[in-house]
Amino acid sequence: MNVLEESFGHRQVTPQERRMLIRAVFSAVAPRYDLMNDLMSWGIHRLWKRRLARRCEAVRGRIVDLAGGTGDVARLLVRSDREVIVVDPSLMMMKAGLAKARRPSPNAWLAGEAEALPLATESVDLLAIAFGIRNVTRLDAALSEIQRVLRPGGHFVCLEFSRPAKWLAPFYDLYSWLVIPALGAIVARAPIAYRYLVESIRRFPDQREFARILTEAGFVDVSWENCSFGIASLHFARKSH
Ligand SMILES: C[S@@+](CC[C@H](N)C(=O)[O-])C[C@H]1O[C@@H](n2cnc3c(N)ncnc32)[C@H](O)[C@@H]1O
Repeated sequence: MNVLEESFGHRQVTPQERRMLIRAVFSAVAPRYDLMNDLMSWGIHRLWKRRLARRCEAVRGRIVDLAGGTGDVARLLVRSDREVIVVDPSLMMMKAGLAKARRPSPNAWLAGEAEALPLATESVDLLAIAFGIRNVTRLDAALSEIQRVLRPGGHFVCLEFSRPAKWLAPFYDLYSWLVIPALGAIVARAPIAYRYLVESIRRFPDQREFARILTEAGFVDVSWENCSFGIASLHFARKSH
């Protein structure tokens, strides 16, 4: 029984209910989201995000930070030869990002979700998504939307929690099941949200399987690299010419 099923009286959750619950999770955690990220990962998520930004250095033009939340990744991608757009369904997350008024600022913040992107066909040079892909309700629809908005040859970069190396797994399990929900309860006052976080990480495909899904969805030049022994991974792919 997962936390979503428990929230719906122990029955199978429909995709629409899952979508609404995920929306509620991020509204609940928005004010403390950045602080929680720093506490849970001891600040390491910042190194992973910087690594993502470094891997995107060669690309200019229109860049989208999908599931951009409070805009962490978008801010790292801002450059004078780029237009950087945050897309996220949670107004609360984007509001928390805007309230911090950190510089540099992305060019635009758009409300929208991965399954129906509010962007023109073949208008994007690079689409990045950090810790967002596992929240989409219909992965196939999201990947086909990403393909639609990318220009031919356009880049897709995905940072997501993944499968850590075997030797690390027992420590990682202990930490995720005991420490993260406790931090979620004390700091964010949202224990359910942080149980959802841990469960959604477990359910998401590992590095190899996600690369296979991307290839099957029609992406080319698919590759990945592990971050912190596979706790997270960066996937790279391109839309074919
Ligand atoms: C864990 S946060 C990641 C935020 C930011 N990218 C970061 O790395 O700090 C996940 C984000 O995914 C967004 N999200 C949830 N469902 C989504 C969907 N179907 N399409 C796009 N984004 C979604 C949430 O609103 C939330 O802001």
